[in-house]
Amino acid sequence: MFKDQVVIITGGCSGIGRAAAFSFAKEGAKIFLADLSEKAGDDLVEELEKAGAEAAFARIDVTDVEDVERMINDCIQRFGTIHVLINSAGVLGPRARTDRYPAEEFKRILDVNVMGLFYCMQAVLPHFLSKKSGTIVNIASVAGLSGFSGHIGYSASKHAVVGMTRTAALEMAKHGIRINAICPAFTLTPMLESAIINDETNYLDGLQNAIPMKRFGKPEEIADAVLYAASSASSFMTGQTIVLDGGLLAS
Ligand SMILES: NC(=O)c1ccc[n+]([C@@H]2O[C@H](COP(=O)([O-])OP(=O)(O)OC[C@H]3O[C@@H](n4cnc5c(N)ncnc54)[C@H](O)[C@@H]3O)[C@@H](O)[C@H]2O)c1
Repeated sequence: MFKDQVVIITGGCSGIGRAAAFSFAKEGAKIFLADLSEKAGDDLVEELEKAGAEAAFARIDVTDVEDVERMINDCIQRFGTIHVLINSAGVLGPRARTDRYPAEEFKRILDVNVMGLFYCMQAVLPHFLSKKSGTIVNIASVAGLSGFSGHIGYSASKHAVVGMTRTAALEMAKHGIRINAICPAFTLTPMLESAIINDETNYLDGLQNAIPMKRFGKPEEIADAVLYAASSASSFMTGQTIVLDGGLLAS
C-alpha cells in the first residue's frame, strides 16, 4: 500500500512510533526515523533493513526548530521527497493533582507535545504545498477529548494537538494535504510501562478495569489506525480524530 512512499516518524524508536515503522515497512515504505537516542535509532535502522526496508535515522529533539528543519532537509536529501509525516514524539509527565502540579513539568510537556508537533507540521508543510499532496498523522490521545485526572499538562497538550489537527486540516484541505489525529487510550508501550512501574497506588489497575474491554491497547493496534489515516483508503477524511480506547469514551 505504501510502496516507495517516504514516511517520517518522530518518536519512531519506541512504542507506537516503532510499531508504525514496522507496519509501514511491511507495506513497502521508506522509513525516516527521528528521535532522541542515536543508539536506539541506529539499532532500529538495522532491524528495519534486516526486515527488507530502506530506513534512515536522524537524532533530533522536536523542541529544537533547527533540529526539526534538519530532519526535513535530511529526509529529502536521502529519499528525494516526503509523503507522510507521523508525529508520535511525546511525553506524559508526572501524575499529580492540579493544585500540586509542578509548573515546570507542565511547561516541558507543552514544549514537546505541542510546540514540537507544531514545529514538525510547520517544517513539512512547504514541501507538501509545493507538490500539492501529503498526509500528516498526529498521535493525540483520549486525553485530548476528555479529562485525565492527575495529568493536567498532558491533557492540555493533547487537547491542543486535536485543535491544531483540525485547524491545519481546514487550512490545507484545498491544497491536497490531509491531517488527522489518532486518539488512543492506554497502550502498552514504554511510556505506559514506566507509569505502571512508578504506580504505587495501583491507580493503573483501576484504569484498566474502567476500560470496557478490560485490557490496555497494543502498539500494533494503534499502528493499524495510523496506516489507515495515512493511506489512500482514507482519501476523503481530514481533520478527524480516530479513537482507539477499548470502549472507554462510550461508557
Ligand atoms: N502509550 C499510551 O498509553 C498512549 C496513549 C495515548 C497517546 N499516546 C501518545 O502516543 C505517542 C507515542 O507514545 P508511546 O506510548 O509510544 O511512548 P514512548 O515513550 O514509547 O515513545 C515516545 C517516543 O518519543 C520520543 N521523544 C520524546 N521526547 C522527544 C523529543 N523532545 N524529541 C524527539 N523525540 C522525543 C521518545 O524518545 C520515544 O522514543 C505520544 O505522543 C503519546 O502521548 C500514548
